[in-house]
Amino acid sequence: MGKESKSGGCLGWLLAIVILALVVGAIVYAVKQKMDHANDNKPSPVPGPPGAIDKKYADALKIAMQFFDIQKSGKLVNNKISWRGDSGLKDGNEANLDLSKGMYDAGDHMKFGFPMAFTATVLSWAILEYGDQMAAVNQLEPAQQSLKWITDFLINAHPKDNVLYIQVGDPDLDHKCWERPENMKEKRPLTQVNITVPGTEVAAETAAAMASASLVFKTSNSAYSSTLLKHAKQLFNFADKYPASYSENIPEVATYYNSTGYGDELLWAASWLYHATGDRSYLDYATGENGKLFASWGSPTWFSWDNKNAGTQVLLSRLSLFGAKGVSGNSGLGNYRSSAEGVMCGLLPKSPSATSSRTDGGLVWISEWNALQHPVASAFLAALYSDYMLTSQTAKITCGDHSFKPSDLRKFAKSQADYVLGKNPLKMSFLLGYGDKYPQYVHHRGASIPADATTGCTDGFKWLDSTQPNPNVAVGGLVGGPFLNETYIDSRNNSMQAEPTTYNSALIVGLLSSLVTTSSAVKSFT
Ligand SMILES: *[C@@H]1O[C@H](CO)[C@@H](O)[C@H](O)[C@H]1NC(C)=O
Ligand SMILES: *[C@@H]1O[C@H](CO)[C@@H](O)[C@H](O)[C@H]1NC(C)=O
Ligand SMILES: *[C@@H]1O[C@H](CO)[C@@H](O)[C@H](O)[C@H]1NC(C)=O
Ligand SMILES: *[C@@H]1O[C@H](CO)[C@@H](O)[C@H](O)[C@H]1NC(C)=O
Repeated sequence: MGKESKSGGCLGWLLAIVILALVVGAIVYAVKQKMDHANDNKPSPVPGPPGAIDKKYADALKIAMQFFDIQKSGKLVNNKISWRGDSGLKDGNEANLDLSKGMYDAGDHMKFGFPMAFTATVLSWAILEYGDQMAAVNQLEPAQQSLKWITDFLINAHPKDNVLYIQVGDPDLDHKCWERPENMKEKRPLTQVNITVPGTEVAAETAAAMASASLVFKTSNSAYSSTLLKHAKQLFNFADKYPASYSENIPEVATYYNSTGYGDELLWAASWLYHATGDRSYLDYATGENGKLFASWGSPTWFSWDNKNAGTQVLLSRLSLFGAKGVSGNSGLGNYRSSAEGVMCGLLPKSPSATSSRTDGGLVWISEWNALQHPVASAFLAALYSDYMLTSQTAKITCGDHSFKPSDLRKFAKSQADYVLGKNPLKMSFLLGYGDKYPQYVHHRGASIPADATTGCTDGFKWLDSTQPNPNVAVGGLVGGPFLNETYIDSRNNSMQAEPTTYNSALIVGLLSSLVTTSSAVKSFT
């Protein structure tokens, strides 16, 4: 009995303890739920200066940056690529101009002004947003030097207010040869736009490149920065005053870099000029009538060398997110921001408006030619938007009945970068020189020919046809990438998939710079 009673007492205590535990548990759970819920709406703390370095992205960035050195034309300075030397030294001679600098476009030796200027604009943007992160892994100087290699060319290519040289070389002649750039002997004719044959896209993109680069060099080289800004303003006026499509006016360029419209470049250039000058008229240009006409507000587009609208939407979101002085009440800016969010909603895989154009492995996949350009460009924009949100303490964006946090955007950006770096069904890196497996038969003349070969224009085709892998690695090149079914044909003749481009490098450099450290507060650059 006593025993029973004792055990009964024990049982009673046990019961009491269990009930207490349940009650406490329930309270803790309820409080935690409430806090979690509150966290959904509470912005994360603003990240500090560059945090811990993520070795994977740092290594990849150092590799990606080298492709610009491989693409440099002209008299090389501190050349670190053993198989490259001086080339294109007489480019521009026929017009008494020095157009020897600049970069070759891809696996060939053309200097195409339109994508080259886009390369410079994107590289400037990456430096402006993530220069501190580049510096943390010793990549800021190489990035600035590569940018300057292009802007030096662009300055010389713009000898008069309304004259811009937009191409060096003849693609037909160039493509009839398979040779090292150092051995080029064929004619390198020049193509210009002017007031009789204007070309708004290329003039405006060049203005965007020079305006954004003027911000990059503002403190380190103020004289150079002012020169760039002067050219940018003149080119924008030229582009705006003589509106015409460059690829309609000069049909030859349509074979390679056909433009689907010039409105996006005008807005992009005006937005960069606003950032570079603080002159409100450029902002009004982008947010007023021209915005309505050209900005494709509300209909998401893919950021690329041809279409800059998504880039402009993200760039101008800066102003509304950070509440820049004197821009409140600008309804156009609101349209840009909501359009940028529409773009983000299209990218986030769990969003109701997520694009279905993806591979099974999750890579955004839009076109067979140079497939990686769109996912990499989109991931760069997503990383930027995520950092804008963090820095401005913006908790979430809304996509239909879902909401997403900055970390969701960053996760998307990382997923695309990781795919490129080898997290894909082929377990292959598409960034040349990164990882243990990457394409070996890249469509790139210089990389495919031994540095000591004496072959010239046509006998060089034996190097295209060779069954051996390239003797030189085009380090840092980002090839075109996989088919929708995630296969890849590693063949030198496969320019659709196996040709690295200079503008791809600007995009991947931007993306990797955004991921180099764990924290990434963006700074004001206006
Ligand atoms: C203007 O550009 C066109 C197209 O490149 C060219 O054919 C023409 O010669 C140029 N005009 C002048 C005056 O140089
Ligand atoms: C170039 O783009 C325009 C506008 O989208 C299109 O009409 C034209 O067919 C394209 N040309 C080529 C050669 O692709
Ligand atoms: C490369 O492709 C071109 C065009 O498709 C073709 O004419 C040429 O024969 C191919 N060369 C080789 C080596 O496959
Ligand atoms: C993958 O897609 C490419 C391009 O559409 C096609 O040529 C190839 O046969 C496909 N491969 C497989 C294994 O389905």
